[in-house]
Amino acid sequence: MSLSFSDLKLQSPLLTALAAAGYEQPTPVQLESIPAALANHDLMVSAQTGSGKTAAFLLPTLQRMIKRSEKPGKGPRALVLTPTRELAQQVEKNAQIYGKNMPWLRSVTLVGGTSFGQQIRALSRPIDLIVATPGRLMDHMRQGRIDFSRLEVLTLDEADRMLDMGFIDDIETIVAATPAERQTLLFSATWDGMVGKLAQKLTNQPEKIDIAREEKQGKIDEHLLYCDDSRHKNRLLDFILRDTSIDQAVIFTATKAMSEQLADRLYENGFSANCLHGDMPQGWRNRTLMDLRKGRIKILVATDVAARGIDVPTITHVINYDLPKQAEDYVHRIGRTGRAGRTGLAITFAEVNEYVKVHKIERYLNRKLPEQTIDGMEPTRKRVSKPTGRGRRSFNNNSNNPKNGNWNNGNRRNNSAGSGQKHRPNQQNQANRSRSGSPRSVSSQAKH
Ligand SMILES: Nc1ncnc2c1ncn2[C@@H]1O[C@H](COP(=O)(O)OP(=O)(O)OP(=O)(O)O)[C@@H](O)[C@H]1O
Ligand SMILES: [Mg+2]
Repeated sequence: MSLSFSDLKLQSPLLTALAAAGYEQPTPVQLESIPAALANHDLMVSAQTGSGKTAAFLLPTLQRMIKRSEKPGKGPRALVLTPTRELAQQVEKNAQIYGKNMPWLRSVTLVGGTSFGQQIRALSRPIDLIVATPGRLMDHMRQGRIDFSRLEVLTLDEADRMLDMGFIDDIETIVAATPAERQTLLFSATWDGMVGKLAQKLTNQPEKIDIAREEKQGKIDEHLLYCDDSRHKNRLLDFILRDTSIDQAVIFTATKAMSEQLADRLYENGFSANCLHGDMPQGWRNRTLMDLRKGRIKILVATDVAARGIDVPTITHVINYDLPKQAEDYVHRIGRTGRAGRTGLAITFAEVNEYVKVHKIERYLNRKLPEQTIDGMEPTRKRVSKPTGRGRRSFNNNSNNPKNGNWNNGNRRNNSAGSGQKHRPNQQNQANRSRSGSPRSVSSQAKH
């Protein structure tokens, strides 16, 4: 018998809000984390993208706020730190959804790029929950606007990413300002390196929760497409974007300039596309994400600023136009689709000379990416380098990919029909296909 939210001892204001949000059952990470957090344990949690980690930390935190604080003052009772502004805004919005039957609950998002006025006003009255990026929170702390003496829970979402972004000193300063007896909830994709050391420092006998990927939690089909050069890449992209099964897509680029350039090009080609990157004014960033959420734009071209945490359930496709700089970003990027049990399709482009970068991602994943080609659009250039040496798996090994069982035998020397699995147009469109390379529809496994 599966457990319900009420079995987890969540109280009625939260239960009715969850029912209204359409949450029928806790996800595995919620099943493990909520009781442990309600029992006041510190937590170190890892679980796959889109598996409901936000509610895993917000629900037990909000449950504390059903009762009045025992301490005087107006400072926050809970603080959530996130690496990006958009994620902070999203987390606070979730808190409002889960806390909608707690009219006394007061929360605020403190992020850069927005005016101080509203934030200062919010902080001038008693506040329950602050969701913040470290930089702006520090600005307010320096001005003496935040009193952490009432703080009960500190949560770091995407902790590893915050450290990658160089927030370690800020985080240490913030933590030092909070009461030692607080509860600490840490969410991170990994505990390797610096983030593991930080976790040790911040937590007290933490419960470690590590939820392995489960098929039933959603499935992201992955395709790897090699291309000769950027022109070839653009042709592949145009072809894929004409797929009628695309509801909404996020395309990741390596640079801010490229995200703008590509969004402009797609817009000129008639797609409803817009870009998102960290140099845009925050107002634009907010409007762009809102337009995506409301379905007013179909394609978001973004840098890795959108790779972590962003939850837009209608995203059916993720396209890595450029390979991610760090292998782990691959997992987070593709995790923008296939959320909350849905399926999604992730397509990664790699130029033939980026073979080694692909190999790095595959080593991180400990599996090969299913390599495919599109009929008539196969790469013609030879793959430049081939990884060699210890610990590196060769592509020249006839190894079968468990997913499609159809790996290239050796280098992709030619564009013959035998190289890789074909990206097959669905049957209905197969009849319409022309040899000329004009737009055709490609099959998609993203069905919702
Ligand atoms: N118990 C539930 N039942 C149904 N939907 C849920 C449940 N819990 C969370 N969701 C939904 O699942 C989606 C993903 O949740 P969330 O953003 O918290 O995932 P995440 O694990 O934090 O992902 P990421 O690693 O990308 O940050 C959201 O749309 C959320 O509303
Ligand atoms: Mg998250």
